[in-house]
Amino acid sequence: MSVHNIKSSRFAKAISGEAQAVPPVWLMRQAGRYLPEYRETRKKAGSFLNLCYNPELAIEVTMQPIRRFDFDAAILFSDILVIPDALGVGVRFEEGKGPLLDPVNGTKIARLTGDGLLEHLAPVLETVSGIRSSLAEDKALLGFCGAPWTVATYMIAGKGTPDQAPARLFAYREPESFQKLIDVLVDSSVEYLLAQLKAGADAVQIFDSWSGVLGDEEFDRWCIAPVAKIVEGVRLEMPEAKIIGFPKGAGIRYSDYRERTGVDVLGLDWTVPNEFARGLQRGGAVQGKLDPLLMVAGGGALDKGVAEILDCLRDGPFIFNLGHGITPDVPVENVERLIRNIRG
Ligand code: CP3
Repeated sequence: MSVHNIKSSRFAKAISGEAQAVPPVWLMRQAGRYLPEYRETRKKAGSFLNLCYNPELAIEVTMQPIRRFDFDAAILFSDILVIPDALGVGVRFEEGKGPLLDPVNGTKIARLTGDGLLEHLAPVLETVSGIRSSLAEDKALLGFCGAPWTVATYMIAGKGTPDQAPARLFAYREPESFQKLIDVLVDSSVEYLLAQLKAGADAVQIFDSWSGVLGDEEFDRWCIAPVAKIVEGVRLEMPEAKIIGFPKGAGIRYSDYRERTGVDVLGLDWTVPNEFARGLQRGGAVQGKLDPLLMVAGGGALDKGVAEILDCLRDGPFIFNLGHGITPDVPVENVERLIRNIRG
């Protein structure tokens, strides 16, 4: 946690390994379609990518959930797919379809370079410094990128598919070409995360949403190894950089992942048993892990889920979050209820 005086904040304490009666809380996708004010700004921006590349509007949507819920951390509003966009792979978002990309093949991968990456991403970096100036000193600002494996799955398939089979198949058939793609993404991610940290991000999160579909050996090669290289590359220039890793669906591989990547905080999904999560706190802070569907269900089911997590994890270093992003169908009252449950 560099530039800003937030060392005494709940978020900074949790990252440094301190247990707290009231843990810090933020939610993945906290700026999103469940908020009427987001939908309003999103309309103004036209397309989703326009919103990502418009600092004024991106700062506005980043701040919306902080104003409403007083979360302990703001997360930069952008997307993991701005990296392929910056690499010259066509990316677009269609209503109801999710992201669509021009798929890459061996020939296209051979020609990929990270030249001009930060020039393309300059508006996002401007957003980071703008958020830092708008944000209270005791709130953390999180930057992020997608993990190389997850980003590569979208680049190969051109979209999200049920178990990202196209990328897994490509990696089996053409491992050298796939390795080249991963290497370009590792280098781009190091450059991009360092730029975010320099622009004012207090910590960064690496989203590996699709790590759970990998076999055992593939998890080592395509999930752990590239993330370890990113962590090493970032710390080479900024040894104090705070990094959260979120290998969704990693299951029993979560502890290997922490040990071998060196991330400070382990992001957990909701399938991880609370007791297992408590064991993981011996290695450092954990973040998560409420089932996002409980935010839709609300009521007593939500209260119970939150209480069980707090009872089990607040005696160790812990950041409250969901086990994946909040969905558009979540009633705003349920987020208020969640915050009351956590802060009393
Ligand atoms: O968390 C935040 O508030 C910060 C912003 C953020 C977004 N996407 C905004 C977004 C972050 C951190 C992401 C990460 C991201 N993007 C991931 C990793 C986390 C995860 O959810 O697994 C992935 C896989 C993507 C790729 C992506 N972007 C998909 C699959 C989609 C479509 C899904 C959907 O819900 O429609 C997006 C679009 C997207 N990214 C939206 C938002 C708010 C919704 C699009 C819209 O507003 O029109």
